[in-house]
Amino acid sequence: MSLENIKNICVVGAGNMGHQISLSAALAGFKVACTDISQDMLNKAENFAHNYLAEQVAKGKLDQEQSGLALANLSFTDSLEQAANDADFVIEAAVEKIDVKRKLFTELDRIAPPHAILTTNSSFIVSSKVADATKRPDKVCNMHFFNPALVMKLVEVVQGPHTSQETVQVTLDLCGKMGKIGVRVNKEIYGFLVNRILSATLNEALFLAEIGVASPEDIDVAVANGLGHPMGPFRLMDLAGIDLAYYSAMERYQETHNPSDKPSTLIVEKFIKNELGRKTKKGFYTYK
Ligand code: 3HC
Repeated sequence: MSLENIKNICVVGAGNMGHQISLSAALAGFKVACTDISQDMLNKAENFAHNYLAEQVAKGKLDQEQSGLALANLSFTDSLEQAANDADFVIEAAVEKIDVKRKLFTELDRIAPPHAILTTNSSFIVSSKVADATKRPDKVCNMHFFNPALVMKLVEVVQGPHTSQETVQVTLDLCGKMGKIGVRVNKEIYGFLVNRILSATLNEALFLAEIGVASPEDIDVAVANGLGHPMGPFRLMDLAGIDLAYYSAMERYQETHNPSDKPSTLIVEKFIKNELGRKTKKGFYTYK
């Protein structure tokens, strides 16, 4: 298996990450089938693709032909069977719940051709937790994109103990073809590289807000202007999704039983109120 064998990519999940991963792959010339159980999410992803490409043409960043090719490369379906049955490469970007992912990997293993590589975009679930749900663990790894996936260059490619060198190499090559910078992570570790470093910042920001040292808005202003980050930690949590912060902390806590790994009260409050950030139009900030 090499990059040349990859023509068809299946992206599972049309949410926060999946819709932009799909479009990135379509722009790179792959035939992409994006699938989701929610027709509403698929419609939103399709509308986003149309609007984004039109904007890129208006900005002079793409021409009509490139935009048309990307659209022609993209299809949306609520049938996993249809999306994965001719896939050479699968990127799973579904909800961050282990039981859902294990079910999906069992299904993907049944549906996708035997040569297909199955990856997960999970932010914190290592691929060994899903690889044993398949009969091809050597072809399973993490391929972790960053939000917004059309803009952010980095992709972490994490090799599990079950993952073959070939799978890692093909996945890194695919990152390059998609205009991304793939970084090889040699060992499975919670949060991989970037989310470990990021969570140290986010936890400190949440702690400072919780004890009333400064408001989330002022902490954001401080971090953006004092450290030169493109956005402060609270805006970033709104972008990535407060549910993600909640689920990742809960998953970590269930593993370690360390009370300091529990999600912060600010995150729990937002999660309970379904104020999940940009996706629900309200998180630490309100969006139109
Ligand atoms: N989706 C797609 N494209 C977007 C976008 C979005 N949500 N937001 C902005 N863009 C594009 C714009 O269209 C514009 O594109 P152009 O260069 O073709 O015109 C470009 O990004 C710059 O946008 P703006 O000028 O409007 O705004 P900024 O310069 O402030 O950039 C940003 C916006 C790229 C989001 C920037 O603020 C940023 O880099 N923020 C930090 C993002 C970050 O840290 N991501 C990592 C999150 S952690 C994560 O993903 C881990 C995972 O496990 C969840």
